[in-house]
Amino acid sequence: MPLDGKRGNGSLKEVGLKVMQRNLSYLLEAVMVCWLVAPSSGMKCLAEEVTEHPEIRCDPANVLGAESCAKCHEKELNQWKLTPHYATFETLHRKPEAKAIVEKLGLKSIKRNDTCVGCHYTRQQVDERERIVAGVSCESCHGAAKDWLALHNDYGGPAATKEGESAEHRQERIESSVAAGMNNPANLYLVARQCLACHTTPNEELVNVGGHTAGSLEFELVSWSQGMVRHNFLRTNGTDNASLNPAQLRVMYVVGVMADLEASFRATAKATAKATFGITSAQRAARLKQKLYDIDQLVDDPNIKRALAAALSEPLKLDRGEELAAAADLIGQATSDFAKSANGDELAPLDSLLPTPDKYRK
Ligand code: HEC
Ligand code: HEC
Ligand code: HEC
Ligand code: HEC
Repeated sequence: MPLDGKRGNGSLKEVGLKVMQRNLSYLLEAVMVCWLVAPSSGMKCLAEEVTEHPEIRCDPANVLGAESCAKCHEKELNQWKLTPHYATFETLHRKPEAKAIVEKLGLKSIKRNDTCVGCHYTRQQVDERERIVAGVSCESCHGAAKDWLALHNDYGGPAATKEGESAEHRQERIESSVAAGMNNPANLYLVARQCLACHTTPNEELVNVGGHTAGSLEFELVSWSQGMVRHNFLRTNGTDNASLNPAQLRVMYVVGVMADLEASFRATAKATAKATFGITSAQRAARLKQKLYDIDQLVDDPNIKRALAAALSEPLKLDRGEELAAAADLIGQATSDFAKSANGDELAPLDSLLPTPDKYRK
């Protein structure tokens, strides 16, 4: 029985053994990768390779903190302070549900274990020590800023202005910021991927043993980013928190579905047992596959077709972690290409699928 409950002839027999073998080969792979790229960092490197999701890694040594954005982005900062991403810093550790999860997992206090911190907090290295400095903050979504801060707003030297910048320079500036680790919303996929790396909760033990929710099942990028999370002051020179136009909303909607599909495949790939985590993740992936199918019926786009083909090529079964992860890689690549090239004016047939503003998370 495949994990998503659809018909199929998958067998769960010997899955334990296969999973063990697979974990072992991941371990070996991690050791080899570490040995090749960072021979001196030893066990630390191994632990990172095995336990952290590259998508949500926010290197504490490169985190500058939200206050470092305030000088130029004060209004964005004020908007962020109205969200649960900001509030979780003060609220989470007081919640009985949170304490119960930590107890079941046998972890130390909520702010002192890698698991909770990875998704609920921002960690910054200050004088050799790592501190929890905020909840989910600017850099959780836009990437740790140390290496890109000076690049992302450089119009071409101190005297250069936004108005005087050529299209080529703008393109180069965006590309160099992305190369330096910025999840620049000029490519919406880079930010959507962050949302979903947290909002699919891809951690089997956290869900099955800890009793954490198996991801935000109602997540949908337009409605979850265009309510209280929205902070578009740049495009209005600070006068207004701008709404997106219909063409932008369509692109965002499709990017959200595709990035969710990718992340749900990744979560399903991590499942080792037929229990809440694996079943919920596979059902989510199946639902998104259907959504992307519906989208493909309405519009004709080569990147949507590529992602759909990759998703349809892999049954959502327990013992196919490597194949599911490979399909997720293809879906991610197609999503990035879509986000870069899509023309929202051509996606008008999708309007009936988009959430209406009354559904936006306030
Ligand atoms: C010294 C001023 C300054 C600081 C500090 C600063 N920014 Fe910016 N930021 C800008 C300017 C100017 C732009 C507009 C660039 C443009 O015209 O494309 C911008 C653009 C952005 C964008 C939008 C990029 C795009 O193409 O849509 C993001 C996201 C962003 N900044 C995030 C941050 C974050 C996060 C921080 C803190 C870690 C930060 N910025 C700190 C000046 C700054
Ligand atoms: C992979 C990311 C991820 C990890 C790791 C994670 N969480 Fe969460 N957590 C989330 C997300 C996303 C939500 C919002 C869920 C939703 O939309 O229902 C959440 C919600 C919660 C809630 C409910 C909050 C509320 O408002 O009632 C609690 C409690 C919680 N998490 C505790 C923990 C604890 C304790 C840990 C560490 C053992 C942890 N979480 C680790 C992503 C994560
Ligand atoms: C680093 C992990 C992380 C990232 C990245 C992230 N979130 Fe969240 N988000 C959370 C957690 C954790 C909560 C729940 C906080 C709580 O209630 O304590 C949450 C809560 C929310 C909520 C409130 C949910 C509700 O029930 O109303 C919205 C909306 C939301 N996130 C949207 C987004 C969007 C959109 C993105 C990407 C643009 C995003 N998030 C990126 C971790 C994350
Ligand atoms: C939950 C994830 C998340 C967090 C936290 C977050 N952003 Fe963003 N940011 C986004 C997304 C998604 C977009 C693109 C949104 C859109 O087009 O509507 C964006 C867009 C921007 C832009 C471009 C806005 C424009 O007018 O074009 C700037 C600047 C920016 N963010 C700065 C910041 C700063 C500074 C912080 C912290 C105070 C921050 N962001 C926190 C997800 C996030």
